[in-house]
Amino acid sequence: MDTLWLKPEEISVAARLLREGQLVAFPTETVYGLGANAWSEEAVAGIFLAKGRPQDNPLIVHIAGRAQVETLAADIPPEAEKLMERFWPGPLTLLFPKKAEVPELVCAGLETVAIRQPAHPLALELIRQAGVPLAAPSANLSGRPSPTCAEHVWEDLAGRIAAILDGGPVGVGVESTVVDLLGPEPMILRPGGITREELEEVLGRPVLLDPALLGAEERPRSPGMKYRHYAPAAPLEVLDGPERELIWQTILQEATPDTGLLLSEEGAAYLAGRCPGQFLVLAPLNQPEKAAQRLYSALRTMDKAGVKRILAEAWPRQGLGLALMNRMEKAAGGQCRRVEVQQYE
Ligand code: TXA
Ligand code: MG
Repeated sequence: MDTLWLKPEEISVAARLLREGQLVAFPTETVYGLGANAWSEEAVAGIFLAKGRPQDNPLIVHIAGRAQVETLAADIPPEAEKLMERFWPGPLTLLFPKKAEVPELVCAGLETVAIRQPAHPLALELIRQAGVPLAAPSANLSGRPSPTCAEHVWEDLAGRIAAILDGGPVGVGVESTVVDLLGPEPMILRPGGITREELEEVLGRPVLLDPALLGAEERPRSPGMKYRHYAPAAPLEVLDGPERELIWQTILQEATPDTGLLLSEEGAAYLAGRCPGQFLVLAPLNQPEKAAQRLYSALRTMDKAGVKRILAEAWPRQGLGLALMNRMEKAAGGQCRRVEVQQYE
């Protein structure tokens, strides 16, 4: 299949393709999505095929306005109203009990449907012109880092989808926060663009993290979180520990010329001139939002540079740092490596 590369002014072509049941990648404020008409089981099946996505991983349905929620959700909890009011359009996905008409494939057989209203003007206009909600996962091949520009989508999906709507690089750089309000306590199933702190402020009560996110053996409530995800080709290790300098020292000891180094500005300054390896600087340590914006692109750059191994510095897990660390740990295949001075008695 020839994949069309569409400019923003060709948005009506993208909308028509979607109405015809085809797949179109489009920009959102978080990452590029791969959209299909959410009401069409056949169109949605195409998404799983194009991405090589496991069928037990449900999709997020993207809507253009609050009124569309009622067509998909059987019930809207009061706390969902509050969060929609404050954070939509934006990088927040909420779970609702699904209406029977929502195709099973969208929800991977679950009783809930995940919905979000993206903040990107092209995404909103595309959903409006298509006239239907769009089921859309990130527009990468399954297992690869999510795309933060149209070129990344092209690398992964050219020849497999009808079109890419190019809206330039995205803003947030990591995916939306997935929140479940249907249990006794609000719970984050996937950290993302809206922080835990922001959610707690609006809800006025603690928001839990799915225990599976904290490395527990448990089965994650968000099926997608169980896969090794966002992964570059070279094995990646994230170094964490109570002392920053010890992390940098460890990198200094272990790096070789074909090691990729994913660093903070502070780390790069410490290591410059005395550490081999290919440096990639994300941001200053107190700007996790900037690091998040660059992470996926950095992982793809590492692949192209052909590094044999990647060492990454851990970031404080506050604000967007929680989502950033979650994605880095996923890319590492699960966990961080702790570096600590052993305390002997
Ligand atoms: O920012 C985003 O959310 C991007 C853009 C394109 O909107 N989309 C995205 O979709 O990240 P995807 O498919 O890559 O990730 C969707 C996540 C997966 O972890 C999936 O398991 C979870 O949401 N999810 C979807 N429906 C769910 C449901 N009913 N219950 C629990 N988790 C669900
Ligand atoms: Mg994804």
